[in-house]
Amino acid sequence: MSDIKKIALAYSGGLDTSVAIKWLGDKYHAKIVTVTVNLGQGEDFKKIGDKALMVGAENHYTIDCREEFAKSYIFPSIRANGLYEGKYPISTSLGRPLIARKLVEVAHKEGCDAVAHGCTGKGNDQLRIEISAKALDPDLKMLAPTRNWGMSRDQEVEYAKKYNIPVSKAAKKYSIDQNLWGRSIESGPLENPWNSPEDDGWEWTKSPEAAPDKPTVLEIAFKDGVPVALDGKKMPPIELINMVNKVAGENGVGRIDHMEDRIVGIKSRETYECPAAVTIIEAHRDLEKLILNRHELTFKKLVDDQWTFMVYAGLWEDPLREDLDAFINKTSGRIEGRVKVKLYKGSMMVVGRESPYSVYDFKTATYDSSSTFDQTLSNGFVPLWGLPTVVSRKVMSKKQ
Ligand code: ARG
Repeated sequence: MSDIKKIALAYSGGLDTSVAIKWLGDKYHAKIVTVTVNLGQGEDFKKIGDKALMVGAENHYTIDCREEFAKSYIFPSIRANGLYEGKYPISTSLGRPLIARKLVEVAHKEGCDAVAHGCTGKGNDQLRIEISAKALDPDLKMLAPTRNWGMSRDQEVEYAKKYNIPVSKAAKKYSIDQNLWGRSIESGPLENPWNSPEDDGWEWTKSPEAAPDKPTVLEIAFKDGVPVALDGKKMPPIELINMVNKVAGENGVGRIDHMEDRIVGIKSRETYECPAAVTIIEAHRDLEKLILNRHELTFKKLVDDQWTFMVYAGLWEDPLREDLDAFINKTSGRIEGRVKVKLYKGSMMVVGRESPYSVYDFKTATYDSSSTFDQTLSNGFVPLWGLPTVVSRKVMSKKQ
């Protein structure tokens, strides 16, 4: 007999986690409590909960965390310009630590001695859920059934049929994960990096060809480094993100096709559609360039990249992530103003920005006669700035 009596399982309603209810229950002779976290993935949560109970869960929790996800996970990521390897807005990555947190909360409430998830052994999600849960409660046991049961897809379907676990008829072409911040589409025909993404993979974005022939100009207002209004209308976080997803998606903006390095070492081809993330991060980055000086921008890029890497790599709960946030929050205090973005047939371009904290000075920058910049200062500056380069070249020319 194992010492595990009750398990809190992160439950998506899909085949893996449904099979896991039965498999874990049998293996450990344990009770299973399922937890589904609403991060804005737009599913039928009633149906998911009913399915969990039908398959054998003793209790089920559906927890609406959209607000917390937007404010405490997506917003910090906007401040950090969170794009992994310069491209992926870490949408799936950001959701996992919050799922882990809720899983631990339910485990405590229900008196569970273990938590379980349905992540495979090949991806990043296992790191994000397990490390976060373990960091929050080191006494809880971590179970990863899909990583260890050794069943192939076909065997899993067999197992499901044997125990009356519903299996959807249509074979799934892609592996999909979605939340408020984006949609990840991988596997199937995408596993060949040369294959162009097929139309049936996209749901949130129009193809650039089918997008309207007239551009849309959207004005995004920021305060404390996060978006607060669209076209002058104040909006709460969820509504604002949904609206940008809609408007940018209609204009074909937000499709990403990316060769990615997973933490387990696998190089993989991933596609995403993240219309709001792509648009808001680009607008935010542009506004920062108006407000922060060159030293701040150079250093913040290092901090942003490290922050994004930590989150991608499952280290949300690491103190370094919070230390980096302290720096980011300090610079973000000045990130206030408006950005105009033009969305047109798959492209997004910032076409205007303004801020009360702008360090752009017209009188210094202008080429017209009102300029106050004393150009004669450069008579001294140019030779001094070039001194190391000129001296090195002189010395090198002697060495033949
Ligand atoms: N590669 C992305 C990440 O690691 C997306 C993972 C998508 N997960 C999934 N279960 N389909 O964040």
